[in-house]
Amino acid sequence: MQIAMIQDQIVPFDEVDSALLDRGTFFGDGVYEVIRSYNGRIFALDDHLERFARSLKEIKITGVDIESIRKKVEKAFDEAGIDNAKIYFHITRGSAVRNHATSEKLTPNFFLTVTEIEDTANEKLIGIKVSTFPDWRWKRCDIKSLNLLANVLAKTDAAKKGCGEAILVNDDNMITEGSASAFFAIIGDTLVVHPLGMDILPSITRKVILQIAQEAGLKPVEKRITPDEATQADELFIAVTTRDVMPVVEFDGKTIGSGKPGKHTKTLIEKFAQFIKSS
Ligand code: PDD
Repeated sequence: MQIAMIQDQIVPFDEVDSALLDRGTFFGDGVYEVIRSYNGRIFALDDHLERFARSLKEIKITGVDIESIRKKVEKAFDEAGIDNAKIYFHITRGSAVRNHATSEKLTPNFFLTVTEIEDTANEKLIGIKVSTFPDWRWKRCDIKSLNLLANVLAKTDAAKKGCGEAILVNDDNMITEGSASAFFAIIGDTLVVHPLGMDILPSITRKVILQIAQEAGLKPVEKRITPDEATQADELFIAVTTRDVMPVVEFDGKTIGSGKPGKHTKTLIEKFAQFIKSS
């Protein structure tokens, strides 16, 4: 008899809930998005949906109507009634008996949550510490895939060291990005960020920052830097939907600038807030 064991219980295989046979669980075979709202308004929904559509296309999950995803997101957000919400959703290739290759046409599974977003205002006033970790991820980090084991290990290592983010360093000793954020350095009035490519996620927050950089008196430059160069930068920050611009005041135990959020980073935080209001 074909069976499964769920915790301590043996069940006939045919009776296993299909949610437990999700390819997302077996293989991380799916893609996701994290969106947020500010004061009752969803931020950058079009950008996130566009990136989601691209992720689906890159892993060849077909037949998903993006406009129907937009409706689901808006419906769930209205239903939750949370002004400052974090909206997470994913689509996996579907549920089936475990087999790496998918011969049959599966029905994709959709899952979404709307939860309260953590208020980072106080953290922004002080800044966070970060620590480096090897970038062990696969070669298509531009896809927002559910395979996040390398990111999980990196961020857990950082958390154990009292750091708020892990900064990933590749085999060439170059910083790529954070375990769950984009990474920026400010050197003089130059804003340095890793170039877009298959080794980083095309972060939506990164895109907004590059748009507003000039208003904040900064010249954006896309180039790779080493951990040593980061340590010597005047200012550092990370950027991500859930924390927008977050100053970094310590990098691998070394103080950055004065050890407080720098003036350019503070200006960017203000400009970012204005951008949110005007969008
Ligand atoms: N992470 N780089 C990585 C590896 C990320 O996981 C994220 C976001 C970012 C920033 O992207 P954006 O600005 O579009 O949020 C960069 C999300 C929030 C997460 O996994 O929870």
